Amino acid sequence: MKALILAGGKGSRLRPITYSIAKQLVPVANKPVIEFGIEAIREAGIQDFGFIVGDTAQDVMNALGDGSRWDAKFTYIEQEAPLGLAHAVKTAKAYLGNDRFIMYLGDNLIKTGVKELVEEFRASTSDALILLTEVPNPSEFGVAELDGDRVVRLEEKPQNPNSNYALVGVYMFTPAIFDAIDTLQPSFRGEYEITDAIQALLDSKKDVRSHIVTGWWKDTGTVEAMLDANRLILESMKHRVEGDVIESRIAGDVTIEPGAKVVNSLITGPAIIGTNCLIEDSTIGPYTSIAEGTRISNASVEFSIIMNECTIENLEATLFRSLIGRGVVVKRARSTPTSICVVLGDNSTVEIP
Ligand code: DAU
Repeated sequence: MKALILAGGKGSRLRPITYSIAKQLVPVANKPVIEFGIEAIREAGIQDFGFIVGDTAQDVMNALGDGSRWDAKFTYIEQEAPLGLAHAVKTAKAYLGNDRFIMYLGDNLIKTGVKELVEEFRASTSDALILLTEVPNPSEFGVAELDGDRVVRLEEKPQNPNSNYALVGVYMFTPAIFDAIDTLQPSFRGEYEITDAIQALLDSKKDVRSHIVTGWWKDTGTVEAMLDANRLILESMKHRVEGDVIESRIAGDVTIEPGAKVVNSLITGPAIIGTNCLIEDSTIGPYTSIAEGTRISNASVEFSIIMNECTIENLEATLFRSLIGRGVVVKRARSTPTSICVVLGDNSTVEIP
């Protein structure tokens, strides 16, 4: 069986971060979010991976390489434009050939992994198997109606959903999906929807089964979801302190990577401090990830993701629920107390007390 991971798309809901980094490479607990998906699929015994890539192809290829890091073989497939999930699958047709495959949206995280699902599909004769979970806001997702575990109807982002079962970004397909995709017209949002392709399978009397996810699932497409995914991963990962901790207090589950230095500070877990960070006279956490080479001095950071090589210093207010890109400087200004001095890229957000 092969895996198809979708790592294209625009990432518009994560701007401005996604102007300079692919959304699938934004770090959660200091690791690109896509790597959690790769690990989950590898755990299910799959070694052959195809990645759909778009404008950020080079970044994704540089970050993931040829797959040898995971004892796997990676193939990159360029999608000419982000025309939808079904279009992405069609683009990968030559790569996928006659194999069954798992399709995984590169910005999704699933607590339970996919091993059980892959085994279930390997043993079944159905034409597709989809993952579902109950959500309070189904109209923001693809929605399925069920009869037992059999799927009877699907709709993408319906205004009046007939169930609370949302499609999670993991799908198992046989090559029957290609004929279904060929029948599609673009949807209301101008995309070739995989949800419509699965409905086309149902229309041609194919057998589509469902699997309900019980643990948490996150589509990390928004800042809020990204911060929440960071919280969930920090809570569930194994922690270890390997860096230098000098005259500081570590409370709860904390990882301090080798080469990091924490001086006269309080780190409250769950939290992670990356390689070569310097944290001094500061309080960090809970639910906070600080990536490699960032320096924080005389500041407080909570419930946030701070990427690599940032400088944060001399803040009076706590940096809270923040997502900060690479090489950012946040510091106390020398100007008057009532003025604020910023250099912000397009679509940045600053909330000022
Ligand atoms: O997250 C689950 C939802 O994912 C499902 O409930 C929906 O049925 C499904 O359509 C999808 O909805 P989204 O609107 O969240 O999909 P998004 O545009 O965010 O794309 C998902 C991933 O696929 C993302 O990592 C980018 C990538 N992608 C997207 C498109 C449209 C591509 O690689 N190529 C594309 O053409």
